[in-house]
Amino acid sequence: MPITKDQINLREELESITDLPTLPHVVVQLMSMLDDPEIDFRKIAAVIEEDPPLVAQMLKVVNSGFYGLPNTIDDLHQALVLLGLDEIQHIVFTESVYSIFYNIQENTFFNYHLFWQHSIGTARLAYAMAAIAEPSIKRTVYTAGLLHDIGRLVLQLYFPDYYERIFELAHQNNLDLLTAESSYLNFTHTEAGFWIAEKWNLPETIKDVIQYHHDLDEPIIEQNPIRAFVFFANEFTRMWGDSLEVAPLTYSLENTDIWATFIHRFPQLKSPSTQDLIQFVDMKLEETDKYIKKLKATS
Ligand SMILES: [Fe+2]
Ligand SMILES: [Fe+2]
Repeated sequence: MPITKDQINLREELESITDLPTLPHVVVQLMSMLDDPEIDFRKIAAVIEEDPPLVAQMLKVVNSGFYGLPNTIDDLHQALVLLGLDEIQHIVFTESVYSIFYNIQENTFFNYHLFWQHSIGTARLAYAMAAIAEPSIKRTVYTAGLLHDIGRLVLQLYFPDYYERIFELAHQNNLDLLTAESSYLNFTHTEAGFWIAEKWNLPETIKDVIQYHHDLDEPIIEQNPIRAFVFFANEFTRMWGDSLEVAPLTYSLENTDIWATFIHRFPQLKSPSTQDLIQFVDMKLEETDKYIKKLKATS
């Protein structure tokens, strides 16, 4: 199937779609609550109670042995206090968004597991770096990392044939997917992601990352560290091969000027060396792989 810019206008086609997937209520509610400095675990419990599979999941995690509890916890509020806000956010957001698109059509190139390996890997890594270097933004960074490539799911959901062709063309011409999307579709996953982010009324910080996570320059590191953390986490997960990309990454991130600027701005990440950070990245991505296998088994 050839693709030419005259044949299709995906942007227009998307505008006519009305039956788009909805963001679960629990995510919408929690997203606004998490920024509240007076956050109350009872209120969070009341929101999560509306979603019985999530309640079961929270209790399962708390009783998994990791927390070393002498007795089984069966009270959600108690479980939430033990888990803490960050872990609550990670479980609720990750498992809810994972389940929205669970039945998406897969093909030779589009693998749902690998998509989430990349997105959850990026979220965890960006969060881990922010937790060390800029804790005040770590939760927003996690959400932004998790959703940064949501536009790929939009393209795969509504235009699977065109998107498969994009993968093929990227493969044949050794292109990264973003370049293939913009060259052959004149429409990219960043634009598709922005479209659904607007429909979902996501906060401006998250929309910014969805739209511009492939762009970073020195002033942005200072002005918008959320985007910077996701940018590097995204590149690292790609370097490790944890992504849908068919063309290998041809440069070494840690030798670039932009990485040097980032490390200069957040020196905590260099301690004691960039090499340690790389090992840390490796460990985070391994953990992610195990996590998704579990997620898949329970879906
Ligand atoms: Fe992307
Ligand atoms: Fe990505």
